[in-house]
Amino acid sequence: MLKNIVTIHSFRRSVGKSSLAANLAGLLALEGRRVGLVDTDFQGASAHLFFGVNEADIAHTFNDYMLKKCDILQTVRDLSSQIGATGSGGLFLVPASTQISDILQMLRVNMDLERYTTGLEKLEKTLDLDILLVDTPAGLNENTLMAIAVSNTLVLVLRPDQQDFQGTAVIVDVARKLNTPAIQVVLNDTSEVINNEEVVLQLEQTYQCGKVTILEHSEELLAMGSTQPFVLEYPHHLISTRIKQLASQL
Ligand SMILES: Nc1ncnc2c1ncn2[C@@H]1O[C@H](COP(=O)(O)OP(=O)(O)OP(=O)(O)O)[C@@H](O)[C@H]1O
Ligand SMILES: [Mg+2]
Repeated sequence: MLKNIVTIHSFRRSVGKSSLAANLAGLLALEGRRVGLVDTDFQGASAHLFFGVNEADIAHTFNDYMLKKCDILQTVRDLSSQIGATGSGGLFLVPASTQISDILQMLRVNMDLERYTTGLEKLEKTLDLDILLVDTPAGLNENTLMAIAVSNTLVLVLRPDQQDFQGTAVIVDVARKLNTPAIQVVLNDTSEVINNEEVVLQLEQTYQCGKVTILEHSEELLAMGSTQPFVLEYPHHLISTRIKQLASQL
């Protein structure tokens, strides 16, 4: 049985999912938790970038596992010592492929639910994980529905935009129909010129998902260009404090 799968998802693209996933992963591992991070974004693999993993050094990817070309354990990269995790803490990355041929191949493939859950289960069990974070591509399709369906917690990221509000409402409805046990909403990239309190109140009333986490726009985060988790570089920044609060609930 799956223990603690946390799927990070959004209705629209480029809202900050991968960045949040890398931040949560790095943070939790440094807090002594055993963390897995699986990149299921076959068209825009990015989880490896935040930890300086060179594409040329990746022998096996999550694509290979889903296509039955390898075992899930062959795809794992142990980043624990690299990020300075001590004691029992650890970070284990399962990257997706950036090769054009692999990306095109995955366009034609729907993920097999049984293989997906078996792979996640094996990761949780063999690596003795406390939490397994899954970074997804945006939008609703068969693969993302499957990822939502097997989640213990769904983290939905959105930007302050009516298109995001509307699309996220659809995903919240879908997740409820799939009986997702917990949903966390993260309003990312907010601006001082917006009345954040009013927006958050509106979202909390509409989605009925508890407290919404607000992460403001940060030029420092943007400047890092997905090269490392922001929280590790700026541990005392307000964004890092808010991500820590969110992490404590996962
Ligand atoms: N709070 C923020 N302030 C400033 N820039 C941000 C913030 N959050 C994310 N970004 C930037 O937005 C861009 C998109 O972020 P990211 O890749 O994490 O989004 P994504 O939702 O995973 O995108 P995709 O849908 O393509 O997978 C990146 O350049 C990232 O650095
Ligand atoms: Mg992404």
